[in-house]
Amino acid sequence: MIVLTGFMGAGKSAVARRLARKLRWEALDLDREIEALAGKTIPEIFESEGEEGFRRRETRALREALGRSEVVVSTGGGLLGREENRSLLEGRLVVNLDAAFEELLERILRSPEARPLARTGEEGLRRLFDERQPLYRAVARQVDTRGKTADEVAREIEDRFLESGNGGRP
Ligand code: S3P
Repeated sequence: MIVLTGFMGAGKSAVARRLARKLRWEALDLDREIEALAGKTIPEIFESEGEEGFRRRETRALREALGRSEVVVSTGGGLLGREENRSLLEGRLVVNLDAAFEELLERILRSPEARPLARTGEEGLRRLFDERQPLYRAVARQVDTRGKTADEVAREIEDRFLESGNGGRP
């Protein structure tokens, strides 16, 4: 199994789908999983349970996902903010998708209503991005996505981290 991290708009879900197709694995989008289990959308969860409620659900969904094999998991941009999640990912094959803030902002602002934390606008997003940088940087495996398509990023992950035929073990 492989887990993709990175800020909102980094292309985690799109890359996960493409990589899973290449590997003939399953793509699992943690945010969609949380929504399915909750029976409501992420904005609705934030509305009724607050961010804390969402984070509890996120950790639960992560635990569940980690029990599976042959799966490419795309995570929400805030996943690494919780110590518990970082511990759960220890020893796992985690790849962070690095991107320039300007690129991320453009993608996020295309559909801001889908992301409750995007409602703070550019300034708030910039702050969140800067705050979280150390968490993303701490991930051992990094892919620079600047100027690359989701296909190219997926191919790079496969070449650099999975070519050895290790079945997704780190
Ligand atoms: C969040 C990112 C979102 C989603 C939720 C919170 C965050 O996922 O999990 O809105 O804290 O950055 P994406 O990174 O897929 O947008």
